Amino acid sequence: MTETRSFPKNFIWGAATASYQIEGAWDADGKSESIWDRFSHTSGNILHGHTGDVACDHYHLWRSDIQLMQEIGLKAYRFSISWPRLLPDGRGQVNQAGIDFYSRLVDALLEAGITPFATLYHWDLLQVLQDQGGWTERSTAEAFVEYTDVVTRYLGDRVKNWMTHNEPSVAAYLGYWWGNHAPGVKSRQASIQAIHHLLLSHGWAVPVIRQNSPGAEVGIVINISHTEPASPSQADAEAVRRMDGMWRRWLLDPLYGRGYPTDLLEDEIREGTLPAEGLFFVKEEDCQAISTPTDFLGLNYYTRHVVRSQDVPESENLPATVIPPPINENDYTEMGWEVYPRGLYYQLQRFALEYHPPKIYIAENGASYSDGPGADGRVHDARRIRYLKEHFAAAQQAIQEGVPLAGYFVWSLMDNFEWAYGFTQRFGLIWVDYETRQRILKDSALWYQQVIRENGLPVSG
Ligand code: FCB
Repeated sequence: MTETRSFPKNFIWGAATASYQIEGAWDADGKSESIWDRFSHTSGNILHGHTGDVACDHYHLWRSDIQLMQEIGLKAYRFSISWPRLLPDGRGQVNQAGIDFYSRLVDALLEAGITPFATLYHWDLLQVLQDQGGWTERSTAEAFVEYTDVVTRYLGDRVKNWMTHNEPSVAAYLGYWWGNHAPGVKSRQASIQAIHHLLLSHGWAVPVIRQNSPGAEVGIVINISHTEPASPSQADAEAVRRMDGMWRRWLLDPLYGRGYPTDLLEDEIREGTLPAEGLFFVKEEDCQAISTPTDFLGLNYYTRHVVRSQDVPESENLPATVIPPPINENDYTEMGWEVYPRGLYYQLQRFALEYHPPKIYIAENGASYSDGPGADGRVHDARRIRYLKEHFAAAQQAIQEGVPLAGYFVWSLMDNFEWAYGFTQRFGLIWVDYETRQRILKDSALWYQQVIRENGLPVSG
């Protein structure tokens, strides 16, 4: 018998996707335009002009996709719901066809013995709400709560695990500050407002979900890279304070009742990205709403950031990422992201020690490697297996040391539309042919099947 490094009983092994990245059917059955439809239809935004118009066509192929999930043996599936499919005007009128799609999906998952984990927002805001300011406006947070109410009234009897937002920091920084994600706004202040309204809408949504979905567990998903200074200098320690601050503390401190970090707020005011009165759009009661207790915290982990300070005017003095030289060919994925499994262990420890969430899920972890079918028709993605194996081992060590990690969702179930990179990055356990939409289980999916079956990592092999 092979010895296995086993995981706790009932550990939830899953895989994750997001609506815009896989569904396609961008204007089918009453769905309205999202900011990602608009952004990808605008030339110059996405590599090679790719769009998610058809993507993996999961909107039509969902039945066979569930069969593939079953074949892998997934215990859970994390997917996101498309707001523009359900409420084409953003608020008000419900589109029954949209509800039916997710309702059938959920029924079929349950029938297949796969627990649905639904994310309410994975970046596909309605364009009509963006036209009114999008997440920079408080009214978008109000609309999100109405949408949450609709979704959970229809699906809350069957879906019992809810994730409000996926990576609010990416939605805000890339979408409203750097402008390389939809809606392509370029304003630091807008991104700070956007984060606030994303967090506020989360806090407001939690009691609505609990009300409509009795017994449900609710949480939010945050992305964290492990952050280290490039040198022991004071300047680089300062760069870490800012980098770690903007990705981790700026979100987790308010979510866990500590309010926005004063040091970072002072930086923004000093540098003029916020006026002297600071967060003028925050109302007194907001911080309490944002810190409404949740059942779990979702962590998306991919890589490490080694940072150094930049010798540029203070207003632009954001930390720069240093790419450490590769020691061997497996050190980087095709996204250019360093493979750094220890960082997952450190971040899990840190979450548990600093914020004490009752439960943690790794809501995303995975790697982009482009291996496709070989002469034998199979996909030998040995590098992905290695990546996952090392990260599973890091997670397992954290569990042994008391971190309340309850599940692990591999990103992604299948190759899909990787935002500004279009279809050039393949993260899937399942290979997708973008011409024919044919799917092939990669070797990593077959390896994962074995991990799930044994509830642990084979020590040899
Ligand atoms: C995360 C996103 C997910 C996917 C992975 C690679 O930031 O949540 O949609 O793009 O990165």
